[in-house]
Amino acid sequence: MNSHRLTKMASLLLVGISSFALQAAASEPTVVPEQPPFPAQGKITFVPRDSIAEFKALPEYKEPTWVTEKYVKAGKLPPVAERLPKEPMVFQTGNMPDGVGVYGDTLRHVIGGRPEGWNYSAGQSQGWGGIDIGMSECLTRTAPLFQVEAKDVEPLPNLAKSWDWSADGHKLTMHLVEGAKWSDGDPFDAEDVMFYWEDNVLDPSVTPLNGATPETFGEGTTLKQIDTYTVEWTFKEAFPRQHLYAMAYGTFCPGPSHILKTKHPKYAGTTYDQYKNGFPAEYMNIPVMGAWVPVAYRPDDIIVLRRNPYYWKVDEAGNQLPYLNELHYKLSTWADRDVQAVAGSGDFSNLEQPENFVESLKRAADEAAPARLAFGPRLIGYNMHMNFSANGWGEPDERAQAVRELNRNEDFRKAVTMAVDRKKLGEALVKGPFTAIYPGGISSGTSFYDRQSTIYYPYDLDGAKALLEKVGLKDTDGNGFVNFPSDKLGGRDVEIVLLVGSDTGTDRNLAEGIIGQMEKLGLRVVLNAMDGKQRDAANYSGRFDWMVHRNQAEFASVVQNTPQLAATGPRTSWHHRAPEGGVPDLMPFEKELVDIVNKFIATNDNAERAELMKQYQKVATTNVDTVGLTEYPGALIINKRFSNIPTGAPILMFNWAEDTIIRERVFVAADKQADFELFAEQLPGKPGESGPSN
Ligand code: GLA
Repeated sequence: MNSHRLTKMASLLLVGISSFALQAAASEPTVVPEQPPFPAQGKITFVPRDSIAEFKALPEYKEPTWVTEKYVKAGKLPPVAERLPKEPMVFQTGNMPDGVGVYGDTLRHVIGGRPEGWNYSAGQSQGWGGIDIGMSECLTRTAPLFQVEAKDVEPLPNLAKSWDWSADGHKLTMHLVEGAKWSDGDPFDAEDVMFYWEDNVLDPSVTPLNGATPETFGEGTTLKQIDTYTVEWTFKEAFPRQHLYAMAYGTFCPGPSHILKTKHPKYAGTTYDQYKNGFPAEYMNIPVMGAWVPVAYRPDDIIVLRRNPYYWKVDEAGNQLPYLNELHYKLSTWADRDVQAVAGSGDFSNLEQPENFVESLKRAADEAAPARLAFGPRLIGYNMHMNFSANGWGEPDERAQAVRELNRNEDFRKAVTMAVDRKKLGEALVKGPFTAIYPGGISSGTSFYDRQSTIYYPYDLDGAKALLEKVGLKDTDGNGFVNFPSDKLGGRDVEIVLLVGSDTGTDRNLAEGIIGQMEKLGLRVVLNAMDGKQRDAANYSGRFDWMVHRNQAEFASVVQNTPQLAATGPRTSWHHRAPEGGVPDLMPFEKELVDIVNKFIATNDNAERAELMKQYQKVATTNVDTVGLTEYPGALIINKRFSNIPTGAPILMFNWAEDTIIRERVFVAADKQADFELFAEQLPGKPGESGPSN
């Protein structure tokens, strides 16, 4: 036998032995296995933070000719220079992949959600898919940070054009952009900021859409108005720079106070219900600070948005943005978004449902395909969250309360996580190198990820069954499902209700996979599938035992939505909130997580932050804070006619790709422009009026 063959044999043998050893000790926690490599396509060009945009006056400003001809010259609209702030936000040409653009064309989005109404500040959803992102502007902005050099990463100025810290670091003075206007021409100023804070965030009867609560900005934080364009924050901690992330999408994007106050109980003698529902989906032309205004809505068909004539951002040539005149939101399904984007009847998709990967890849590989498709890092992940509240969140009945007590039992959680065959779950979604074993915790695609701190309980059904028995759960009636002990609920079968959004195939498939795998463990799990809106409501109000949940930006970036990484406030965590007026009944490991997250928020020392996230990951995965299910990369699909799309834009990091690509700078070159505008040469109408104005 030559030496070459020998080494080969030996290594084969070694592989055999090590996999045997692994199996023998399978129920012992280990470090999570290495993921199959998946090279992200499209290299990101990293840039300094201050090279993206600045605030300054330019010698002259331009707008689409038809706006001047039809609106300004007819006296319907002031000249563009008067509509812009003293110093508009100017996007720097050097950071625009294809430079200064031209006006025209439409971006055709497709979404699976449906608009509830326009009162974002009172918690109404617009159907997601970036519709609210396009309408809202926030004090700071983080989505474009994916391309900023790591040492330089801090939220970008936006409605707050600059800020200064007091010498002791407890006060932060923010200067708002001066002279910016809402899309109906009403001035934007500190009054809008204070209305959002005092009458929405601080008002316990109002919860803004993405769940901003006072604790989102740090316990004890206050905000006051100094003058028309200045507000001042006071923090308990010194220099809590991390809160600048909470001032970005979606927790500090003020609504139009001049419109919202007309329905708010404090100003209008109305009820909170009348406030929340005062601006239903049929209400058109709600004033926005974003680049497009909703002007038409046909249920289950489309929402059309037109350019905001008061938009406060320009390019270096003085062209008022956006370049695109119109946005479409076709009301369909999320899976159809992929199909239409690949086929060219839609323009954009975050390819995030692995069931569609192979077909989409095949079609996009064709030279003549209308859209380009680029995969990013493994930042899309799913967890199963268990409801940890045993003190009344969501008003559980006796059965649900008994399940919560199980959820709070460490051995029970370990049994569940050990009974999840993650390889199988992933492969049921898509074959190939896409999905990876994900035990929970922060995503493997973030810079804070540390594999050695990521603890995994390998798949081991027998070990899981033994743990269930240890918890006191046995199948006493021989029907294959474990029962409660005889002194609890009459010793009936343990039954667990799994909440899942029915709008997305992947959510449903994962839930069905879990139900099958839990059946093998002897746990009866029943599906509670609801449309996205109802699912969110059930989540926020605590009406669930277990829930399948796609990870949000806190897992994908760590620095965005950071307070949501643990139950840092009474209404912060996805799976552990407090009943009305109470505090969450945290278990010791959850207290540790809260402590780590709060320390992370309070420090600006990068080495310390990295260390804290290692600790977070270890505590979260060792204690099974969430049951990780799978993790995979997503791809951005965008029609080839669009310019200024940065390469390597991830579909989710600080925010979704709809914001990451900076839509207000996206344009279509003159020779590629298509004829999709439904309201050509029309601007939004007055608030509440139906349709655009002619
Ligand atoms: C939904 C979609 C995401 C993204 C977001 C934007 O959640 O599934 O891909 O478009 O909306 O809010």
